Amino acid sequence: MAKLKEPSKSSVSRREFAVDVAALGLTALLPRAVVDASAATQRVIVRTDAEIGMIHPELHGQFAEHLGSCIYGGLWVNKASRIPNVDGYRQQAIAYLRELEIPVLRWPGGCFADDYHWRDGVGAASRRPKRVNIHWGGYVEDNSFGIHEFIGLCRKIGAEPYLTGNVGSGSPEEFRDWIEYCNYPSGSSLAEERATNGSPEPFRVRYWGVGNENWGCGGEMTPAEYAAFYRRFSVYARTFGGLKPFLIACGPASNDLAWTRGFMEGVSGRRLPDGFSMHYYSGGNSTATNYTPSTMEQQLASFAAMEQAIIQQRGLLDGFDSGRNVGLVIDEWGVWDRAVPAEEKQYGALWQQSTLRSALAAGMALNVFNRQADKLYMCNIAQMVNVLQSLLLTDGPEGERCIRTTTYYTYALFKPHRSRTSLRVETEDSSPLGLSASASVKGAELILSLVNPKLERDLTVECSLRRRVAKEGKAQILHDADFNACNSFDQPGRIVPRPCPVSVEGSKIRLDLPAMSVATVILQLA
Ligand code: AHR
Repeated sequence: MAKLKEPSKSSVSRREFAVDVAALGLTALLPRAVVDASAATQRVIVRTDAEIGMIHPELHGQFAEHLGSCIYGGLWVNKASRIPNVDGYRQQAIAYLRELEIPVLRWPGGCFADDYHWRDGVGAASRRPKRVNIHWGGYVEDNSFGIHEFIGLCRKIGAEPYLTGNVGSGSPEEFRDWIEYCNYPSGSSLAEERATNGSPEPFRVRYWGVGNENWGCGGEMTPAEYAAFYRRFSVYARTFGGLKPFLIACGPASNDLAWTRGFMEGVSGRRLPDGFSMHYYSGGNSTATNYTPSTMEQQLASFAAMEQAIIQQRGLLDGFDSGRNVGLVIDEWGVWDRAVPAEEKQYGALWQQSTLRSALAAGMALNVFNRQADKLYMCNIAQMVNVLQSLLLTDGPEGERCIRTTTYYTYALFKPHRSRTSLRVETEDSSPLGLSASASVKGAELILSLVNPKLERDLTVECSLRRRVAKEGKAQILHDADFNACNSFDQPGRIVPRPCPVSVEGSKIRLDLPAMSVATVILQLA
């Protein structure tokens, strides 16, 4: 992968902003107290002269685990089901996910991965062993969804597969064989077995996780112990069929610097991983549809902390990696609200509604990822369907209805950023609940995304493009007057992106951003 640059600063201090505004000759726009965070007008400068790096499409990745009704009853319903399906996959879910063009999908866990043995999921479904899912509810896992079914899903939605290997209870041999089974074209026993099981063509899986949360459910290891496991497993994770595996090591829980330091010390002088995966959840003290202003603010403020964690982790990693070749991956992130037992009983473990608040949370995170695009390689939200901050919800494993959540629509709004160059954006208010922004450019098109997380402050955003002028622009907004509002099975289209007026006059862009809203502006540059 490309060399990584110095960490970018997400926003500037008030003093620096005043200097930048002066440099642009916009001092007439300044209010008396240079920056009044309580003012309804917020100024933003898009520095088209300050490129951060390419926004990997993988920053919009997804995660699907054998948990609750994510796989069984969510994505996979079986061919014999009365639920409309294509080859056993829920038809409506496939259609919605295809539309979003999911870049990458991580599977089979999560905690499930370190108790999963891939051989259980190949061969005739009727002969696959039945095992107990020890992490998620103790139900009997019949292994009817295995590697062939997973690859089939990826092909149907157009996503790159990403497999997490079993380090906690598995072996280097099992890991190595899985790579050969997936990637070796033909001639070896494992490649022939794959062909007999229905796929003469190799799966060509590039992304491989070396365990999951090995500091916890993946074996309760110390960083030094995990580093030793990583070294051993990675030796056997070879290139098969000309495809070099992109190895992703288990990183910290949130901003655990001791884990990162201990791991990097343990692998120093050896082959470093291609990716290093941190998990960063934004916990919440309310159930999804019952947030209060204070529990919501507490949760949304965590995205500023997440950005700080990324900056600190990348700084630490780079200290051990002079070539700056290790990409930072956020393998699991999202809002983790208090569960509602009745909903979990009806729809599956960790089933969670996605509200307007969740949409803002997604927007704030995706803005952070754009701003840190020169170090982040991949970010996978937890999880794709029916679990935690999901993109789709179904009304139970037997239910036919499948709806797009508010989080799905935030991804739709951010989709135009993929594969563009992230630009530095300067905002006036860098407090955790200040206006959140990011921008990217490719050719003559500039994309600007904004989140107003304030509960009771409508904003007029006055944006200046440094050194470029725009000819025209259009914007879309996701908004509702109620931050606990959601798309429900009865009202699936309550919160969807709607067109929003934007005024474009050369380098000055102006739009109204109501309290609690996410917007994306697409500008055509002159
Ligand atoms: O996403 C749910 C769980 O959260 C995953 O299985 C685990 O990795 C994390 O703790």
